Amino acid sequence: PFYKTLFGLSELEEKIRSHFGLSQVVVVAGDSDSSQQTKRELGRAGCQVLNRVMRPGDVIAVTGGTTIAQVSGQLVASSPLKTNWFVPARGGLGESLDYQANTIASTMAKRTGAHYRLLHVPDHLGEEAFASLMQEPNIREIVDVIRSARIVIHGIGDAMVMARRRRLEQEVIEAMLAEGALAEAFGFYFDRNGEVVHKMQTVGLRLEDIVKTEVVVGVAGGKSKGEAIAAVMRFGHNDVLVTDEAAALEIAALI
Ligand code: BG6
Repeated sequence: PFYKTLFGLSELEEKIRSHFGLSQVVVVAGDSDSSQQTKRELGRAGCQVLNRVMRPGDVIAVTGGTTIAQVSGQLVASSPLKTNWFVPARGGLGESLDYQANTIASTMAKRTGAHYRLLHVPDHLGEEAFASLMQEPNIREIVDVIRSARIVIHGIGDAMVMARRRRLEQEVIEAMLAEGALAEAFGFYFDRNGEVVHKMQTVGLRLEDIVKTEVVVGVAGGKSKGEAIAAVMRFGHNDVLVTDEAAALEIAALI
């Protein structure tokens, strides 16, 4: 197509990388909104990044979602990662089983010969339940492991798509919309400037943990997610972005 002559994929990668100050951007051809093949490619590119950044002894926190599930389904290690741990970034976020962070963490570990720990708590907790759960030594222990992750690999979603998928209350959705919520990642909702406009108290990774995580890898594509991805990049704590051509063109048009 015409734009290919204007922007090769590597120029797109470089434009996005330098604009957001990322260490690496990978753009795969196509649009994962309409092509399962592109979505698989996105997953495969995510695997390559993960294999490049992982070191012995690492704890890797993963989110849920259909995109990170594509990463987990294709991950292979050249030799067993006997000293690595995969953990969910947060508790249950109302995803169906196949796309839950727990499922994805255990799949990644099994496929690579690594270890995993699961977090069996819902994410919507009242103050009291939260406080008492955090006193459970078993929960405390896994939460400490999660918060020590050196690598986080996460999906990015459109705020309204994710709010509905998680069945947030209508009032909450309207309040978020009024504040300009546009993007979602790891359970946080962002406006177009990358400011957090809504967050849920969580037993897993908090914002302050993400801010200090050494390697944050976002994997998301599809034309419909372009704006959301740009918003999360403006939040400013990603190191690597793996995306597709359709999303990258949307992002490039915004910057
Ligand atoms: C969720 C993650 O499970 O999946 C979010 O917690 C992410 O961080 C979302 O935004 C993306 O889902 P999908 O299916 O569009 O990859």
